[in-house]
Amino acid sequence: MSTVQVSITVNGERHELDVEPRLLLVHLLRDRLGLTGTHVGCDTSNCGACTVHLDGEAVKSCTVLAVQADGGEIKTIEGMAAADGTLHPLQEAFWNDHALQCGYCTPGMIMSAADLLTRNPNPSEEEIRSGLEGNLCRCTGYHNIVRAVQDAAKAGSGAAAAPVQSGANA
Ligand code: FES
Ligand code: FES
Repeated sequence: MSTVQVSITVNGERHELDVEPRLLLVHLLRDRLGLTGTHVGCDTSNCGACTVHLDGEAVKSCTVLAVQADGGEIKTIEGMAAADGTLHPLQEAFWNDHALQCGYCTPGMIMSAADLLTRNPNPSEEEIRSGLEGNLCRCTGYHNIVRAVQDAAKAGSGAAAAPVQSGANA
């Protein structure tokens, strides 16, 4: 099959890649760039495990062709912590509030929550639940996830959109 060249920036690093037109963004991230923190839970746009940011907005990367992301800026869960390993406030809050069990949904949850807090830095519980309804978790019952997003909001996650300086490791 013929290939198409795409140019994308992922977590601040530029990549020029030849891809098949049918290649999904999630497979480019995982299989070509080795960024396996972005998970595939369903491949049918239902679970949200594959959520990343494309040009600052959360997208389900199993619903985006790699060629559609040409010229775009992508952020994955690997790009959320600071270079020194300091966690993003959402990562810190998920850890502190025990907002994960198996962790499979967690990268997508955090990327969706980060998008939510950017648009709404002080969401109500209802707004958090509504904002994360595209992300499924089969373990936690969602309570601690909602609490973690509330705590990250209090820590200024949406306003700062940057890691806190707390000394925690990635
Ligand atoms: S793998 Fe993309 S929504 Fe489930
Ligand atoms: S922590 Fe297991 S699916 Fe959410």
